[in-house]
Amino acid sequence: MLDPNITYLNHGSFGARVSEVFEYQQSLKRELELSPINFLDRQRYRIDEARNCISSFLGAEVEGFGFVDNATTGVGCVVQSIQIEPEDEILTTNLVYNGIRQLLTRIASDACCSYRELQVQFPLQSQNELLQLITDAISNKTKLLVVDHVASASAIVFPVKEIAKICKERGILLLVDGAHAPGMLDLHIDSIGADWYVGNLHKWICAPLSAGFVYTSEPHRDTTHPMTISHWYKQGITNEFNWQGTKDITPWLAAAKAVEWGSKIGWSRIQQHNHAFAVWMQKTLVATWNVEPLSPLDGSMLGSMVTVPLPATLPNEMEACLAYRDYLYENYQIEVPIFELQGRGVVRLSGQLYSREEHLKRLISAVCDYSA
Ligand SMILES: Cc1ncc(COP(=O)(O)O)c(C=O)c1O
Repeated sequence: MLDPNITYLNHGSFGARVSEVFEYQQSLKRELELSPINFLDRQRYRIDEARNCISSFLGAEVEGFGFVDNATTGVGCVVQSIQIEPEDEILTTNLVYNGIRQLLTRIASDACCSYRELQVQFPLQSQNELLQLITDAISNKTKLLVVDHVASASAIVFPVKEIAKICKERGILLLVDGAHAPGMLDLHIDSIGADWYVGNLHKWICAPLSAGFVYTSEPHRDTTHPMTISHWYKQGITNEFNWQGTKDITPWLAAAKAVEWGSKIGWSRIQQHNHAFAVWMQKTLVATWNVEPLSPLDGSMLGSMVTVPLPATLPNEMEACLAYRDYLYENYQIEVPIFELQGRGVVRLSGQLYSREEHLKRLISAVCDYSA
């Protein structure tokens, strides 16, 4: 549904909607308004149908699967459900999404426990290097490790299955923040072996906004609760997550339609296409701008997004980067995130079915105008 006049290279932030899914959601909204009690009360089984569809698509046991509005809320549910003592440590990395950083520091401050970010420096050579850094950073105090499946700013894919194995061996709780992973990666949540896995459906599955989920592994199902405690408190994860107060549930129901839309094309085809496009964008920009990539050019640490350093003549401080992002939008109708990462101005690019080589060429040409 994107405006064709905009060069849209930022699928990652808020996804984009497919018209057939949007129309389906509108029809659900109409149904809801025609008979609100019937839709929201008697027909609550429709949430279960959507839950079955999405959990099976993501390879997650349906008994542990609950819808939430977004990944931020999902992470909030998990961290507020864990008993954390003052002697404990919450560990994450410096690549953590800033909203989640705020949440974790608040939880740590409430529990009077320590909060630590392991420092990951670029360039990275391999997922093994990342795994080693994380393994070395875990301490005897670490109670909870929070890692991204696909890190937001850097677009790096973490080896979550291997991390989960280490956490099991060391008796550490693992929460994987998979905000970007559903639809981008070939996901089998159960086989990862994390204690919790949180994700968004409104990014790479192209579901309506406000569709996210929390997956809880079996041992934690009695103690994990939604942020909003309501009628069904302690009556099972399914009941609790299905009713989080009165709300519009059409994004959850229409998410199943988005899965169906992708299945018609083939999710693995979509994923392979988008990955190949991201890898091509990285190679092209690294060669054109003569910059050092953050990760190997073979794309082994990438999904469908890539973050590339800007040429040195471009802004490299956060405020100036954000101003440059707006400049590109206003003057060239190019929508692309530009920000500072470890002292460098960078651009994060997303590959999606609507992406075209021409889009990247427009960006290169605009950057060239600015540098000239
Ligand atoms: C790793 C990560 N976690 C959490 C979020 C927050 O997602 P939402 O705003 O949908 O809650 C994002 C958003 O991009 C993200 O990249």
